[in-house]
Amino acid sequence: MSEAAGRLAGRTALVTGAGRGIGRAIALLFAREGAEVAVVDRDAALAEAVAGEIAAAGGRAFAHDADVSDEAAMQALAASIGRRTDRLHALVNNAGIVRRRHFKRLTRADWDAILGTNFIGAVQCTRSFLPLLRGAAGASVVNIASITVRQEGVRLSAYAASKGALESLTRSLALDLGRDGIRVNYISPGFIRTDMTERYMSKWLFRKYLKYRLPIGRPGAPEDVAKAALFLASSDSDYMTGTGLVVDGGLTLRAI
Ligand SMILES: NC(=O)c1ccc[n+]([C@@H]2O[C@H](COP(=O)([O-])OP(=O)(O)OC[C@H]3O[C@@H](n4cnc5c(N)ncnc54)[C@H](O)[C@@H]3O)[C@@H](O)[C@H]2O)c1
Repeated sequence: MSEAAGRLAGRTALVTGAGRGIGRAIALLFAREGAEVAVVDRDAALAEAVAGEIAAAGGRAFAHDADVSDEAAMQALAASIGRRTDRLHALVNNAGIVRRRHFKRLTRADWDAILGTNFIGAVQCTRSFLPLLRGAAGASVVNIASITVRQEGVRLSAYAASKGALESLTRSLALDLGRDGIRVNYISPGFIRTDMTERYMSKWLFRKYLKYRLPIGRPGAPEDVAKAALFLASSDSDYMTGTGLVVDGGLTLRAI
């Protein structure tokens, strides 16, 4: 892994929820493409492990233990990273949680937790890092949304609403931040095999259903989403803003 080579060579990136799953795959790929990566997760041990993996492969990474739903923590994180660099080229708002519950059983605390992480977390992170993003030429924000915005899953009302808000925010930020040289886009992953989805994959009937629904014939891997994030973070997409990429293996194509 060479720092000088790659599509993100000489760039700095921050990925939230990078301790495992999709965020981890994005952090590893960005580092492999030459970026110095801030690996942010509320689980310190997971963040350290991913930063260690990157370093072991010859890349540059720093682990940060922070909760995106905690405004003071995000400001402190931005101040700490700001002492190391005055530029952030790529911010990936990936941290997310799901609580699959019927609307009747979702409490106000559930709504606060889900919106606080998936939506307000991205707002706070982007707000906190705005000065560093403005300082970088060709800065890009990538928000990890979900196909549930357009094809609702049952018992996912709070989750789908949080991702819908994130998608809408993406378009507004693209307008507001364009003149600051910051592009903002989103990715809508379909069914990606991670800890978040593993309990469904253990069910034989669900696996059969997925196979029927997926023209590509397999569930997504975190690396499938990471490749799209790399495209949106790099100059390969430098005329794209306020839009999104669906990475779902065709899951949303079939009506019935
Ligand atoms: N897996 C899928 O099929 C799928 C589909 C669509 C969208 N997504 C979205 O992709 C993103 C990543 O999902 P995943 O499947 O990798 O999830 P995951 O549960 O496997 O990993 C999420 C990571 O985020 C961290 N995290 C959670 N809340 C946090 C917070 N408040 N602050 C900091 N870190 C926090 C967790 O510690 C964990 O390391 C999420 O936003 C999720 O909603 C996932």
